[in-house]
Amino acid sequence: MEIREVAVVGMGTMGAGIAEVFARAGISVVAIDVDAQALSRGMAALDASLARAVSRGKLTSSEQAQLLGRVRAAAGFGDAAGADLAIEVVPERLEVKRQIFAELDRVCRPDAILASNTSSLSVTSIAAGTKNPGRVIGLHFFNPAPVMRLVEVVSTVLTADGLPGEIASLARRLSKTPVQVSDRAGFVANALLLPYLNHAASLFERGYATAEDIDVAATAGLGLPMGPLALLDLIGLDTSLSVLDVLHTEFGGSRYMPTPLLRRLTEAGRTGRKAGRGFYTYPAAPQTSDNGNEPAAVPATVTLVGLGDAAETELASMIAAAGLNVTRNTGHPTDLVVIAAAPERPVLPEALAAGRPGQAVGLHLAGSGLAEVVRTALSTEAAVAAADALASRLGLQAVHSPDRPGFLVGALLYPHLADAVRMVQDCYASAADVDTAMRLGCGYPQGPFHLLDKAGLRQALDVLRAMYAEYGDPAFAPPPLLAEHAVASLGFTSAP
Ligand SMILES: NC(=O)c1ccc[n+]([C@@H]2O[C@H](COP(=O)([O-])OP(=O)(O)OC[C@H]3O[C@@H](n4cnc5c(N)ncnc54)[C@H](O)[C@@H]3O)[C@@H](O)[C@H]2O)c1
Repeated sequence: MEIREVAVVGMGTMGAGIAEVFARAGISVVAIDVDAQALSRGMAALDASLARAVSRGKLTSSEQAQLLGRVRAAAGFGDAAGADLAIEVVPERLEVKRQIFAELDRVCRPDAILASNTSSLSVTSIAAGTKNPGRVIGLHFFNPAPVMRLVEVVSTVLTADGLPGEIASLARRLSKTPVQVSDRAGFVANALLLPYLNHAASLFERGYATAEDIDVAATAGLGLPMGPLALLDLIGLDTSLSVLDVLHTEFGGSRYMPTPLLRRLTEAGRTGRKAGRGFYTYPAAPQTSDNGNEPAAVPATVTLVGLGDAAETELASMIAAAGLNVTRNTGHPTDLVVIAAAPERPVLPEALAAGRPGQAVGLHLAGSGLAEVVRTALSTEAAVAAADALASRLGLQAVHSPDRPGFLVGALLYPHLADAVRMVQDCYASAADVDTAMRLGCGYPQGPFHLLDKAGLRQALDVLRAMYAEYGDPAFAPPPLLAEHAVASLGFTSAP
């Protein structure tokens, strides 16, 4: 069916953006809202967004006028009668959504397509209450809708054959990239993003690392545009909590069970940026690097211990290039014993073998310009401070990690990648679709499968096995598909 007119029901944050997306594609829009003020605010938001595009030279004044001419504010639900497609963008509550669909059932043509922009509710349970569930589909846009290119097209067991393909074509006409999935909580992007954010919050809550180090591990270590705790503050801890609750009800398990701190901060009203405080305070307090302590001296000679692998060679040449002496003689009385560490093996046994565990600290180069300084149970404060000073001399940003599998970067990354692999293993989405969803929906520079191929399947497998052995949490058990690919040396992407 040719979509000429669309009814957008709910002109809030998302609705106004979605109305703009349709109008930009030359489709007429009827904007509906239960609240007259909200409708005017939505129309004003659309106006302002187009005015910004004109001022940036991205739209001409005449295009702006044509676009605005395509969007009319409706007097009520009756105005949806001529719509070929109606999309509801009302608050994330099942009873409200059901009520909207009952209204749409009453006023829309029997052949009109009814869509929901729900992020986490079951599209099936919305569809099941309608007269013709075959024409109901999920059409999940991301915020801000005019900018974000991903659209998740969600079909249910009741959706008519052919409709998902039709809606995916419509998404392309809107200059979006569709990913077609079936109806599972969180679809692709939220089902992968939220457990990763939750795990980061849990690492912070358990004192594994500081908030700043966790965020730097994700940005400098993984190349993500934002750290997970800063992102939770941006999304809102309350919103994140309710999506996690839905995911936990659907899937169970520790990855989705909201870490208690998220609930406590939400109860305390510290919901993130919008409240001025979440994991961080907004506006941010001016940064001061002066913690009152004298910076530790860089040791003139460093004892380096390793397995003679590439990591050790790289560290040795970096230390030498910084004008410091490197000795492999563990009997030599230096202030710092650097263990060239790998995230799948603990540092402490090597520190003990070196004979001076107090002075021994693990150092792991993780990503460009990032060093994980790994403190064992026996590392002294002085040794950690000396390792920090060394990292700084080598031009590396340092984050601190306990001596646990994956250290900090790997503990964040590999369970996240395992979740992505499970999605493919379950035949829920292809690796290419998962990568597309995370790139276009969450702003990842590279999708999880590109990250996995880059990190190496063997290392992912070994870290996950070590995490599972140490914590006993089935969420860390490597998915069989990962093990199969690792043994077969088979990447998940054609161009890793
Ligand atoms: N905000 C996001 O980042 C985001 C991203 C993707 C999807 N979503 C989903 O989009 C939907 C809307 O979210 P939002 O953030 O735009 O909410 P919002 O609160 O900003 O807007 C909701 C709008 O719906 C209107 N409304 C409420 N009840 C109504 C009714 N019975 N009939 C007509 N209009 C009614 C409200 O007046 C308001 O204008 C939710 O399902 C949400 O999960 C939100």
